[in-house]
Amino acid sequence: MNIWHITGGNRLEGAISVQGAKNAVLPIMAASVATGAETELDGVPDLRDVEATLRILRHLGCTAERTGTHVYIDSRDICRCDVPHTLMRELRSSVIFLGAILARCGEASLSLPGGCELGPRPVDLHLEALRTLGARVTERGGDIVCKAGALRGAPIVLPFPSVGATENAMLCALVAEGETVIHNAAREPEIVDLQTYLRALGAQVSGAGTSTITVSGMRPRAHVHHTILPDRIAASTLLCACAASGGDILLENVHPSHFLTVLDSLSEAGCDIITQSNAVRLRSDGSLIAPRPIVTRPYPGFPTDAQPPLMAACLKARGTTVFTENIFTGRYRHVEELRRLGADVTIAGRVAYISGVETLTGAVLTAGDLRGGAALIIAALAAEGESVIYDEQLIERGYDHLDRALGALGASVRFERRA
Ligand code: EPZ
Repeated sequence: MNIWHITGGNRLEGAISVQGAKNAVLPIMAASVATGAETELDGVPDLRDVEATLRILRHLGCTAERTGTHVYIDSRDICRCDVPHTLMRELRSSVIFLGAILARCGEASLSLPGGCELGPRPVDLHLEALRTLGARVTERGGDIVCKAGALRGAPIVLPFPSVGATENAMLCALVAEGETVIHNAAREPEIVDLQTYLRALGAQVSGAGTSTITVSGMRPRAHVHHTILPDRIAASTLLCACAASGGDILLENVHPSHFLTVLDSLSEAGCDIITQSNAVRLRSDGSLIAPRPIVTRPYPGFPTDAQPPLMAACLKARGTTVFTENIFTGRYRHVEELRRLGADVTIAGRVAYISGVETLTGAVLTAGDLRGGAALIIAALAAEGESVIYDEQLIERGYDHLDRALGALGASVRFERRA
């Protein structure tokens, strides 16, 4: 259990470099087993999810080590093709190993945990994509067993641009005979980063970032060096914290073009935003107005992962801020906790109405999920007095020492780690 002690009221000021993207490094680390090669990654964030992925890689027989922001993976000696429940339970997004292990070993089995704090997390689109390439997939009580046989390239049409299903389809297609075209593919920047890594690994992949991705084979290379792209959600979170608290911060090592929708909403809320090619500066007096309604959508729409942080920033915005959460059914768990600070939030199905309040008052809170936990921190920074947030190590799943980052910018944050 981690405990965050936060005293609100400080302005945030200064410059900070943003961590590498969790949602890029996890699929890339999984992809490293698709062939037997040595992979070196730079810009890797220090996250619980990265550590969990390293454990899975070692379980499979890889050498996998992290030193600071550098990760070394040697996948030449894979000796297993399964991921047991004990490891899957730590990181549900490890379903991305399915395509990579299947490509490498010709078979793969995973024990899938059910839903998570965001609601049900089905993998039907993943399995359908693998079946389209000829894999034989059986599901038995939460276990998934795949046999590749002779995989043949084919057109895959995703009914929804699922990020994970797109990634699994790309990885499995690497060893399919002939060309695979993935239609209605997810367009997230993290998919483009995965493509960049796969190309360095010797894959013929193109189209990432668009709705149509083509995979036409693989001529494996022995060694790959790749730098993980910056985390657009971690960047958005820090900007929302400054918007809520007031201040003037400069984020370095970011691609503003990857989170334009978030920048638009913060600008509509009254923040002064200046962007450069790999930096963004935000100034706010902490007194915001309600931005136009926010509707979460697949990229390039407003990212669901930034919905909780932006909601926290808008709790005192004058007027009513309206959110519609279209991606996950359970992504308003933070609302109940925000109300304990005095927030005025009404939920009607997928829509959340935030009526701006004059003040928020520090309270004792509990983080329910990764991004919801970040929202509680942001709201506590904008509240009067002290807040205490109990966190079952959820926030460090996706944020690299967020307490240090906020402290460096002037926030009053004391982080306590309890066994
Ligand atoms: C990725 O999850 C991210 N995780 C999520 O970030 C992110 O919120 C999500 O994409 C959307 O952008 C990683 O990349 C590790 P999806 P993923 O498949 O791949 C439904 C964070 O906080 N769906 O695009 O699981 C699903 O239930 C995390 O960093 C199916 O119905 O997302 C959801 O409603 C949270 N069947 C929607 O699609 C499937 O087979 C989006 O899911 C797969 C998904």
